[in-house]
Amino acid sequence: MEDHIRIFDTTLRDGEQSPGCSMNRAEKLRMARQLEHLRVDVIEAGFPVASRGDFEAVQDIAGAIRNCTVAALARAVKSDIDCAYEAIRQAARPRIHTFIATSDIHLAHKLHKTRDQVLQDAVEAVRYARSLCEDVEFSCEDASRSDITFICRIVEAAIEVGATVVNLPDTVGYAIPTEYAAMFRSVRREVPNIGRAVLSTHCHNDLGLAVANSLAAVEAGARQVECTVNGIGERAGNAALEEVVMAIATRREQFGVMTGVQSEEIFRSSHLLSSLTGMLVQRNKAIVGANAFAHEAGIHQDGVLKSAITYEIMTPQSVGIRQNTLVLGKHSGRHAIKQRFRELGFDLQPDEVERAYREFCALADQKKEVYDEELIALLDGSVNHVDEYYHLDGLHVSTGTAVKPTATVELRRGENRYVDSAIGDGPVDAAYRAIERITGVIGKLTEYSLKSVSLGHDTIGEAFVRVDFDGTLFNGRAASTDIVTGSVLAYLGALNRAMAARRSRTGDPATPITLVASASGGGT
Ligand code: KIV
Ligand code: ZN
Repeated sequence: MEDHIRIFDTTLRDGEQSPGCSMNRAEKLRMARQLEHLRVDVIEAGFPVASRGDFEAVQDIAGAIRNCTVAALARAVKSDIDCAYEAIRQAARPRIHTFIATSDIHLAHKLHKTRDQVLQDAVEAVRYARSLCEDVEFSCEDASRSDITFICRIVEAAIEVGATVVNLPDTVGYAIPTEYAAMFRSVRREVPNIGRAVLSTHCHNDLGLAVANSLAAVEAGARQVECTVNGIGERAGNAALEEVVMAIATRREQFGVMTGVQSEEIFRSSHLLSSLTGMLVQRNKAIVGANAFAHEAGIHQDGVLKSAITYEIMTPQSVGIRQNTLVLGKHSGRHAIKQRFRELGFDLQPDEVERAYREFCALADQKKEVYDEELIALLDGSVNHVDEYYHLDGLHVSTGTAVKPTATVELRRGENRYVDSAIGDGPVDAAYRAIERITGVIGKLTEYSLKSVSLGHDTIGEAFVRVDFDGTLFNGRAASTDIVTGSVLAYLGALNRAMAARRSRTGDPATPITLVASASGGGT
């Protein structure tokens, strides 16, 4: 019987912490439900003490998820632990995850504590957490740069007072597989009570080694892998869940272990996350990138046609990408659209089908055939996961080689309609300036990209923006056959996200983000 590897998903905690990946409460709950479908073992739902929004999101998830353990993060401090427990106490299987740094670098420069003091804090934290909750995970932050003798001491002490899981993170993504595996082997060899806890790995991707290090740790005895969907996370990200899971499944004989993940839900999870956060997946990303199963070279295509096994080590179906021969057009009805989405892995709610259908009809009027990639891109615009404070009601641009680019934008907010015009360096810049004039909110565009979703001159373009509002980055993404409209919708997506975040922090979306001194948008 193969050992079970627990998949501990930290998309909603370590992942969400990364720039531009923030999600609101409803979005986090939606992602958590999808992680439950994916059958991960543990969902780390957040860091409740960090903000009221985080606390409430963790509480929502703990109340809704029945089939996974729900974990909440806490520093090795009593008040953090109380807050974490309060947020997860309704969970079917709650876990408190408490951590403290163990490397001399962190002790000297961050904590200003001795090893003995850190050991004592860890022991008190785990003992206290265990008095509240049966399942307690203890993490040695920066374990990979810590002294192994100290790691063994603190791990033994934490297990002695009740830690059920012990995690040894490569917090700064510094480790290489051989040495990271050696740390796990040492701990298993040197810590006498190690058999009473599950050993866990948690790797960051600064050197591009997060998945390799996680797998090396599994080979060295780790039985829990901490990872995120699409590998999102601090800096270069965390170990990508889909890569860890598919490596273990594809090289099953090598690893001799298995996960309980429903791999057919991988693509759907990846897409949901990227549409919730606006964080695109690079085309050549392993497992879930658009090119991951595309064979371009003639020799490869020939081989795959003769027998898939020649160049394909796993099937697209095994990660939930279904292959399609049916092309939808303007005569396709609601049922066909709904069915096609289902085949692509998206079970839409009736109101979502309605909105997706309306978007589809508008697109099918402009182009003869609508391809799967375009349908999926439409989802981002039609199935809107963001509270819509401002809605685009109209857009007119005038541009060319001999005219100053000008845009007139009409926005609706509740019952009120606003219209204003601006000139800019190009039509998109002009439209963004008009939005600023109307809303009075200044955003600094830090990233802007456009890509065509499929082939052909009539395909739809997908716009992605990242905008800095008051020092926080928000992503927006939208698809349209008109690239200026797509760009404006993407910007409004980011703005609406910023306003939603403002509401979750202050309880009032009307609190200005950054007001333009000369804002002159007039209600009509
Ligand atoms: O990277 C890290 O060390 C962490 C811990 C809090 C587990 O995220
Ligand atoms: Zn981390």
